[in-house]
Amino acid sequence: MSSPSIPNDLSAYWMPFTANRAFKREPRMLSGAKGMYYTTPDGRRILDGMSGLWCVNTGHGREEIVAAIAQQAQEMDFAPPFQMGHPKAFELASRIADLAPGDLDHVFFANSGSEAVDTALKIALGFFNVSGQGARTRLVGRVRGYNGVGFGGISVGGMVANRKTFGPMLTGVDHLPTTYNRAQQAFTKGEPEWGAHLADELENIVALHDASTIAAVIVEPMAGSTGALPAPKGYLQRLRQICDKYGILLIFDEVITGFGRLGYAFAAERYGVVPDMITFAKGVTAGTVPMGGVLVRKHIYDAFMKGPDYAVELFHGYTYSGHPLACAAGLATLDIYARDNLFQRARDLEDLWGDTFQALRGLPHVADIRTIGLVAAIDLDPSPVGAGKRGYDAIVEAYHKHDILLRNAGDTIVLAPPLIISHDEIAEAADKVSKVIRAVA
Ligand SMILES: Cc1ncc(COP(=O)(O)O)c(C=O)c1O
Repeated sequence: MSSPSIPNDLSAYWMPFTANRAFKREPRMLSGAKGMYYTTPDGRRILDGMSGLWCVNTGHGREEIVAAIAQQAQEMDFAPPFQMGHPKAFELASRIADLAPGDLDHVFFANSGSEAVDTALKIALGFFNVSGQGARTRLVGRVRGYNGVGFGGISVGGMVANRKTFGPMLTGVDHLPTTYNRAQQAFTKGEPEWGAHLADELENIVALHDASTIAAVIVEPMAGSTGALPAPKGYLQRLRQICDKYGILLIFDEVITGFGRLGYAFAAERYGVVPDMITFAKGVTAGTVPMGGVLVRKHIYDAFMKGPDYAVELFHGYTYSGHPLACAAGLATLDIYARDNLFQRARDLEDLWGDTFQALRGLPHVADIRTIGLVAAIDLDPSPVGAGKRGYDAIVEAYHKHDILLRNAGDTIVLAPPLIISHDEIAEAADKVSKVIRAVA
């Protein structure tokens, strides 16, 4: 029998992607948020170096978003998304499609990045099924990719720790090599010069299986969760060419890179590449209400629109697809991005941001620094105690002693602040990070 619950008893909550025992011994709590700062229960202000978790791109506590959510909750709390609709879902889909390049003009809503990825993979398989190419069932992901935690996502993803515990997963999946190579790319600002040729590995996968069995390739334009690994110059363009050559669908997982992180609505625009689908989440509502989705090119949507018109065309969806509160939050968020020109702002800050963090190069144990858009990743040499210890110590130290929220991916310290960050706050972040690095040396 469990003990009677008491306020602030930390035992019941099994925290996600967290060292539960260490956390519960020495918790890191956040209790308020406004603009660039969190507050803690003991009244400290913590500089948000991570936009929460790559999502609060507008900065925290934006009145317009708060008001839109509150008003929607009053007006209509929920509407069933199957066989019924509500106006804001259609409006938000149109607004997101307007931001996307090319003919990516249809949007399927989900509630998270993981659901968005699994949705995109299912649409890819379904597309070939309804197009008379049902043998195209193979999927291609990438080593060090992170595509969420659904079975589809971990199957195409390339993070060992996320895969090794969970059995056989999807069959028929291949992986491109990672685009990261420290010897060739260390301390790069922006896209590395070296590595476009790594896209050619797709040719080998085609040679092994034949294109007629391959449905889709999914990659992040910048691998985020494995320590911010930007695509090398020309790599994404090359992948597009090879996919076109063999009729393979190209999916960009833009759950992190969407909504301004790399200075554009979608990274696809930065690279001048139109993928067949884009997954998004996080920044679409600035993290306020869970939402994810998939942007789909017109010919894919059209391929499903056949058969009797009373029949469901795609047997997929979620109770909370296009939830009214998420749609209201999304519309208000997109208004802020447009009105405050935040994507352009990220682009304008990229140079200063990159120079500021590349300048940390001489600090102890710094093995590489990557900067792109409003992202910085600092690889530290692993501690003799074990891989990941120094990175973990860094985020603990950052919270308790230096009042900054950082993220670690193993021994990599990652920053991705709200796009409203000021010049002074960039300097403040770099100063705090340098103190953290010295402390864990
Ligand atoms: C590229 C990418 N895809 C998918 C996901 C999964 O998103 P969620 O945690 O909302 O399921 C993430 C989360 O960080 C991500 O970075």
